[in-house]
Amino acid sequence: MKIAFVEPTRFTSGNVAVMVAADRKLLPAAAALDKQTKGALRRAMAASRFAGKKGQLLSVMAPAGTRIDRITLVGVGKAGELDDLAAEALGGSLVVDANGAAQKSVVLVIDAPPGGKMSAGKLAVRSALGAKLRSYRFDRYRTKEKPDAKPTVTSLSIAVKGAAAVQRRYVPLAKAAEAVFYTRDLVSEPANVLHPESLAAKCRELSKLGLKVEVLGEAAMKKLGMGALLGVGQGSARESQLVVMSWMNGPKNQKPVAFVGKGVCFDTGGISLKPAAGMEDMKWDMGGAAAVIGAMHLLASRKARTNVVGIVGLVENMPSGTAQRPGDVVTSMSGQTIEVINTDAEGRLVLADALWYVQKNFNPQAIVDLATLTGAIIIALGHEYAGLFANDDELASRLAAAGERTGEKVWRLPLGPNYDKEINSDIADMKNVGSGRGAGSITAAQFLERFIIGKTPWAHLDIAAMAWTNRDQPTGPKGATAFGVRLLNRLVVDHFETAD
Ligand code: BES
Ligand code: MN
Ligand code: ZN
Repeated sequence: MKIAFVEPTRFTSGNVAVMVAADRKLLPAAAALDKQTKGALRRAMAASRFAGKKGQLLSVMAPAGTRIDRITLVGVGKAGELDDLAAEALGGSLVVDANGAAQKSVVLVIDAPPGGKMSAGKLAVRSALGAKLRSYRFDRYRTKEKPDAKPTVTSLSIAVKGAAAVQRRYVPLAKAAEAVFYTRDLVSEPANVLHPESLAAKCRELSKLGLKVEVLGEAAMKKLGMGALLGVGQGSARESQLVVMSWMNGPKNQKPVAFVGKGVCFDTGGISLKPAAGMEDMKWDMGGAAAVIGAMHLLASRKARTNVVGIVGLVENMPSGTAQRPGDVVTSMSGQTIEVINTDAEGRLVLADALWYVQKNFNPQAIVDLATLTGAIIIALGHEYAGLFANDDELASRLAAAGERTGEKVWRLPLGPNYDKEINSDIADMKNVGSGRGAGSITAAQFLERFIIGKTPWAHLDIAAMAWTNRDQPTGPKGATAFGVRLLNRLVVDHFETAD
C-alpha cells in the first residue's frame, strides 16, 4: 500500500474519510461535505449508532449532490482522547474498512480535533503508520487466490496542510514499518524455508544497509567452547549459527548497547518432545532473533547516531540419534556446567552462550535479550504484556516507558536468590529447569542472569505470548507481530542516541 501526503483541497470523487468528534461534532472537512451533500452525513449519523466516539466508523454510500463514491466518517472522540497509539489504530481501522468494501484507494482528510494534544501533522503521520502496519500481508505461498479477492487498498492519500513537511516527518516511521514487515516476514516463514543457515544468510544480506555482519558456524563456536548452544543444535541436520550484527555510528568512546535474540528456528522440544497439537507454532520460536534483526535493520536504515550490537543464536531443536539427552551435562562458553534436565528448555541454553559472547567481545553498556522463552509467561500475563526481568531499575523503567509509547508493553516480574536456588544441580553448576513447578518464567530468567558478568545492566524480555497473535490487531493482521522492533528502537531513540 502506497501512502502519500497531499494538500487538502475539495475532494469530489473516490473514497473520502473525514473526522467527526464526540457527540457527532463534524470537524471542518466533514462539515463541508455535509453541506455539499445537503445534510446526508448528519442524516446518516442520526440513523445509526455512530456518535463520533474514538474508533467508530460509518460509511455513507454514493451520497447525492457529489460524485464521491463513499464517505467514511471517522470518530476521534472527546478532546484530548486521541494520542499516538489511538491515531495508529484509527489508520489501521480505515484500512480494514476499505478492504472490507473492496476499495482500491482512500483519502483521509486530517482535521486535528480542537482541544487535543495532537497537531494535524502528528495525527497525519501516526495514522499513516497505523494504516501501513495494518496493511501487512504474508501471501507468498498463496498460488490459487484470485488477485481481486485480496484486500485491495493499494493507495492511501492523507490530506493535511503542509503536506511536504509532513511527508518528511513520516520518513523515519516508514522505515520503522519496513523493519516491522521484515521481521513479520521472517517470523511467518515456515521452518523448512527459514532454518539456521538460511536465516544467517538473510542476516548477511543486511550488510547492504551498512551493518557489519559476522557469522560463526559450528566449528568456530566449538573453538570458543559454546557447548550450551551447540548441544541444542546437535540433533539437527542444519548447522547452528551465531550471527553478530554491529552498527557503530555513534561516538567512538561510547560502549555499545547489546540486543540478544533467541533464534530457535523450530522447537520440537528435542528428546523431551512436545505434543503434536499446536507444534507447528514453534516455527516462530525465533521471534526474539527476528525482532533483534528487525531492530538492527531499522537502526541502520535510519542511520541512527548510536552504537548497537545485535546478536542472535540460531539453532533447530530436533530429536534424532545425535540429539542431546535429558541428563546430559554441557559446558558453556562461560566455563559453567549445565545439567540438561529437559531438552525443551533450550532457549536459555542458546542465550547463555550468546550473552557470554557479546559481553566478552563488546563490553556492552547495557544488554536487552528477547526470547519466546516460556509458556509460563502466557499463563502469568496473557497476551497483553511481555515479561520483563532486569538486574537494573533504570533499564527496566526505560523499557517500560518505551513499551507504553509504542504499544509494545512490558511488565516487570521479580528476580531473587530464592528463585535462583531452584536451578542448582546435584552434579553440575546448574540445571536448565527449576526444581518446583512454580515460577517457570522467573527460574528461566534466573538461569540467564547467571551468564551476566558483574553489574552489567541487563534486561530479559520473555515474548512468548507476544511474537504471534491469533487475532487481528489494530495495527496488524493475525500472525507475526514483530513485537520488540519498535520497542528497541524507542529505547535507543530515548536513551542511547546522540543528536546530530
Ligand atoms: N519455545 C518454548 C516456549 C514457548 C511456549 C513459546 C509456548 C511460545 C509458546 C520453550 O522453548 C519451551 O519449550 N519452554 C518450556 C520450558 C519448560 C520445559 C521448563 C515451557 O515453557 O514449557
Ligand atoms: Mn522448548
Ligand atoms: Zn523454545
